Amino acid sequence: MILDSTTMSTTLLMAQLSDPHVGTGPAFLGGRMDTEHALRQAVAYVAAMEPAPDLVLLTGDLTEHGSAAEYAVVADALALLSMPVYAVPGNHDDPKVARDALSRCMPVAPDAPHGVCCYHRHHGGLHLVALDTVVPRQSHGALEADQLAWLARTLDACRDEPVLIFMHHPPLPTGIEAMDACSLLTGGDALAALVRQHGAVQGVLCGHLHRPVQMQFGGAPLHVAPSVAHQITLDLRPGAPLRAQLEPPKISLHRWSLPHGLCTHLSYVEAFGPALVL
Ligand SMILES: [Fe+2]
Repeated sequence: MILDSTTMSTTLLMAQLSDPHVGTGPAFLGGRMDTEHALRQAVAYVAAMEPAPDLVLLTGDLTEHGSAAEYAVVADALALLSMPVYAVPGNHDDPKVARDALSRCMPVAPDAPHGVCCYHRHHGGLHLVALDTVVPRQSHGALEADQLAWLARTLDACRDEPVLIFMHHPPLPTGIEAMDACSLLTGGDALAALVRQHGAVQGVLCGHLHRPVQMQFGGAPLHVAPSVAHQITLDLRPGAPLRAQLEPPKISLHRWSLPHGLCTHLSYVEAFGPALVL
């Protein structure tokens, strides 16, 4: 966290890594995508950043099958990071197994609905609110009434203070039909109403789409991060089949400050060459 002595404002730098899908196996995408390598490469990139991010957010699908062995690999990869790391599960995750392996990254909120990975942390003047949108054994997401009630209580407790929400499933359609069909299908309108009602939500961060997208949601910016591994093909034709492809791996880097809010950079993990002085 950087403290600006002239204005006494705070600046928080947050790296968002999404959808590594560790455990896809050697034949995945014709043998051309090693997701464990992709995660380790992205983590090493973040660990070497200057200035270092104040924290790292993982927006789901940490693993492909939700097994303990896969989470052990994720935990080993994340051990390189010295800053706080906070995660939410995605539809490929098993939230309970994930929590057992990554307890540091998925704290238990005593007031959250039972078995749901929703929690709240406070960093550098910003409230971080993690939402668990996983529907067991389904690819789409949902926020049910008890989760929305927890969110309403949590937002009320940080009334008039800046909040950042992060979750796996995007709550809005993107035009990629096959992914829209498995986005947040329940609770999106109620979530938008809570975001709008709070009035100081600085952003909503999501994953799941495997493409970078910017939208507006409940009067706040909504950012969907790319995968650190494979991307979904950008195909907006009605009825287009779901396809994946390889692109230069990317992370999202969020610089938050007051009164300016959230500035989101897309940052390529693999440079195309050395930086040159202009
Ligand atoms: Fe994913």
